[in-house]
Amino acid sequence: MVCLGNICRSPMAEGVLRNRIEQAGLKIIVDSAGTADYHTGEAPDYRAVSVLRKHGIDISGLAARQFNERDFDDFDEIYVMDQSNLNNVLTLARSEEDRLKVRLILNTVHPGLNRSLADPFYGDISHFEAVYAQLNQAAAAIISQLK
Ligand code: 4NP
Repeated sequence: MVCLGNICRSPMAEGVLRNRIEQAGLKIIVDSAGTADYHTGEAPDYRAVSVLRKHGIDISGLAARQFNERDFDDFDEIYVMDQSNLNNVLTLARSEEDRLKVRLILNTVHPGLNRSLADPFYGDISHFEAVYAQLNQAAAAIISQLK
């Protein structure tokens, strides 16, 4: 799960997907990262933590890190939140195999539309709730594909 800062969308995506994986009894490793290093080591934004806590998911212990090319070796699927993240991650891809691992997360819900999940950082709590709702749908779609 990849966004820009790894403090809003992608740690929310990590928490929501991990929660659904556990509920489904699956064993899959989920992680998240940001394309930028502005917030390395920081916990998720308090609004992201608060919205997920309301939905029974604790992401307060996560720490931001920057995406790097080893992630192409460590993960089978790389979901990016928006078009800018997509471009940044594809720039680091070393091969066609790497490139094929990368997809826009909302394409799991709206195939082929290439929609971006809007950055809530400069918004208010309602923007974080909207991110949660979309990630919840995306996580459900990812689980059903995996099954
Ligand atoms: P995220 O949100 O990419 O969803 O974690 C952002 C967090 C921080 C910044 C931008 C977006 N920032 O510019 O610091």
